[in-house]
Amino acid sequence: KLRRPVIAGNWKMYKTRDEALQFIYAVNQEVPSRDLVESVVCANDVFLRDLVKRQGENIKIGAQNMHYAENGAFTGETSPLMLETTGVEYVIIGHSERRAMFNETDETVNLKAHAAIKHELTPIICVGESLEIREAGTTDQVVKNQVVKAYLNIDRNQALKTIIAYEPIWAIGTGKTATPEQAEETIKNIRGVMKDLYGADIANQVRILYGGSVNTKNVDSLLAQENIDGALVGGASLDAASYLTLVNAAK
Ligand code: G3H
Repeated sequence: KLRRPVIAGNWKMYKTRDEALQFIYAVNQEVPSRDLVESVVCANDVFLRDLVKRQGENIKIGAQNMHYAENGAFTGETSPLMLETTGVEYVIIGHSERRAMFNETDETVNLKAHAAIKHELTPIICVGESLEIREAGTTDQVVKNQVVKAYLNIDRNQALKTIIAYEPIWAIGTGKTATPEQAEETIKNIRGVMKDLYGADIANQVRILYGGSVNTKNVDSLLAQENIDGALVGGASLDAASYLTLVNAAK
């Protein structure tokens, strides 16, 4: 494969600390070698450190969000400095739930991407269109705009350290997956945007994931697409057996 696949679980606001630890114990010895696939789970901040301490060598932990400032009067927020102390290696940025419910904008996504790179966290930058936009036929322009704004003032070397997740909002948690062809078409377009921004060499190295109702049944057909380098998975990442099926499908 041209690019090493990534399977990132996004547990959202599910799992207690005990459940999260049990999951890690269950998958530690089972996940494929990191040389074959990057297996990640993004958990709640409260127990990130506990998970990092217990992670096996082939699974890594990520956060689901962070603030862009290193510190400040931002009650209830977590800074990149604080995430660094937990030992996580990834952070999801600009998830559509955060854009829709927590005032995340293209501008804050860009600030957070810069902050993540500065603190050596791999940002998983989320983009994706609503159903209205898909039906209006403007998906490519809208997603392009999100990507261009997310990468403002990010240079080539920095761009290489990022991961993009394309998540059509209408496919998240709805059981309504984009067809592999639909996902491939938009992801190919995103790679084209990266080519315009950074050139073919960088664009061909950046991993672009699909997210939205990925499960053990549809994962193979999605990953078979040329430009789809893995998945950002919500519901189907909560169960250890299901998660293992997904990471094994990607190797
Ligand atoms: O970040 C993950 C996505 O929001 C997808 O969630 O797999 O439950 O549809 P889902």
